[in-house]
Amino acid sequence: MTNIDTIESAALHVLAPLPYAENALDPVISANTIGFHYGKHNRGYVDTLNRLIAGTALANLSLEKLIAETAGKADKVAIFNNAAQAWNHNFYWRSLQPKGGRVPPVALKQKIEASFGNLDACKKELATAATTQFGSGWAWLVLETGKLKVLKTGNADTPLTKGVTPLLTIDVWEHAYYLDYQNRRANYVDAVLDKLINWGFAADNLG
Ligand code: FE2
Repeated sequence: MTNIDTIESAALHVLAPLPYAENALDPVISANTIGFHYGKHNRGYVDTLNRLIAGTALANLSLEKLIAETAGKADKVAIFNNAAQAWNHNFYWRSLQPKGGRVPPVALKQKIEASFGNLDACKKELATAATTQFGSGWAWLVLETGKLKVLKTGNADTPLTKGVTPLLTIDVWEHAYYLDYQNRRANYVDAVLDKLINWGFAADNLG
């Protein structure tokens, strides 16, 4: 291990830069929403996590290892929640792109057709998961033993603890859409799937 690796492994978790400008998803998701969501909520999870693990045996773990280490442990709930939210949000930002939607790359499209019949059926299943998640949470497209599947998770829960490979996600916490859509979660979800979803990112995650 080099000195640089040592320094990095002991460093605080950082808020990863957004992969696009704060106004790049407008008008589907406004710069105002991104400003609060990324700048306040996402930053809050990272800052709180750093505060909770500072000086503990967990301080040098990667986000993924922290999540695995704390999942399901009653005395580590706050650390799990903030670590998982930090990871989920980083994954969410990359699940979106300006001028997204459209047609998935061929390899992903074939898997979608094999698993759901066609792209519309896959989008419909994602939209149903996103709109029926009771309260705060996430809708996910995941890979499980070679097959694509849609999952929903509540609050900070993440497919990382469920033995599946996450491919993309949609945040359905109210902070993700309330400034732009108020109570109309379904409108937010449909607009994200049609205009922002980053199928290329999902394809990359197929491995
Ligand atoms: Fe969020």
